[in-house]
Amino acid sequence: MYRHRATVRVWVLLSERTYQERLRDVIEVAVRPLPGVRALDLELTPLTDAARANLARRLRESHGRPGALGSRTRIYAVGSGKGGVGKSTVTANLAVALARTGQKVAVLDADVWGYSVPQLFGLHEAPVALQGLMLPPAAHGVSLMSIGFFVSPDEPVVWRGPMLQKALEQLLDDVYWGDPDVLLVDLPPGTGDVPLSVLQLLPDAALLLVTTPQAAATTVAARIGRMALDSRMPLAGVVENMTGSVFGSGGGAELAKTLGTTLLGQIPLDEDLRRGGDDGIPLVAADPIGTTASVLTATAAALPQTRRSLAGRSLPLFVTSQGTTADA
Ligand SMILES: Nc1ncnc2c1ncn2[C@@H]1O[C@H](COP(=O)(O)OP(=O)(O)O)[C@@H](O)[C@H]1O
Ligand SMILES: [Mg+2]
Repeated sequence: MYRHRATVRVWVLLSERTYQERLRDVIEVAVRPLPGVRALDLELTPLTDAARANLARRLRESHGRPGALGSRTRIYAVGSGKGGVGKSTVTANLAVALARTGQKVAVLDADVWGYSVPQLFGLHEAPVALQGLMLPPAAHGVSLMSIGFFVSPDEPVVWRGPMLQKALEQLLDDVYWGDPDVLLVDLPPGTGDVPLSVLQLLPDAALLLVTTPQAAATTVAARIGRMALDSRMPLAGVVENMTGSVFGSGGGAELAKTLGTTLLGQIPLDEDLRRGGDDGIPLVAADPIGTTASVLTATAAALPQTRRSLAGRSLPLFVTSQGTTADA
């Protein structure tokens, strides 16, 4: 009989009851279906202050901005000419598709005014902070960070200019990203302050453009593509969304050709894709083998490995003594 009883001991960060109850649910759901398990002994022990401090110190030591020199993170900034083309929906589903291949994936919602990541992933809670370092919550296998976790939905975010830059910096530097394999950054539409700041803060990011198939949309999207090229930001490619819809066709291929990049995928207009976003369960998680999810998964697999050229970047070279450069 004894061997049918599972014993799980977990050290928890927070002593808050609702948090512990949720954790208990998650663990029960995971353990109960295991073969042979009849009963579960679950012990949740809050970390002592000393253990918390120790953990915070260890996280800080291994912590760095995504894409910092030496980091393995591939960063894709997802942009579009205008809003409503499905940029955030595509970002969320690509992220889930990548996570399903076993990669460690994170999404930064950089659409500060029009954030939608909490909604798309069905997660509405403030991240846990550990001595000033925020731990990104995860949903559907993806680590997430959004301004939306910190403000109430009806409260407008009014930051501009320097405050906006500061907020983005904090989202990058005060969050424990844990050196993911892939970071997707959901940009606001257009070529405004945020895309420029992201360019500066994440020099290794490659731009992934989302457009609808209509010709007019691609002209607008080409502007942000040019901005990227002008600042030597690599282009990861183009995703055409809402293919086969009232928006016509061919825009994605046209845009890719104009910018000298690749059309990575054509995502059909699909009611289920919209519903997944409304319900907080990305379609790739809800129905991974359906037609649209398969196209999204193939698009994620087609993302190129891009690295920004080193030209124009300062490298950590130094002079050891007059007239001699260091070469190891
Ligand atoms: N391929 C698609 N088929 C159906 N609805 C879609 C598709 N892509 C996006 N949508 C819907 O269109 C709306 C705008 O999408 P969203 O991802 O918020 O766009 P953006 O981030 O570019 O502003 C949302 O309601 C979303 O569910
Ligand atoms: Mg959006």
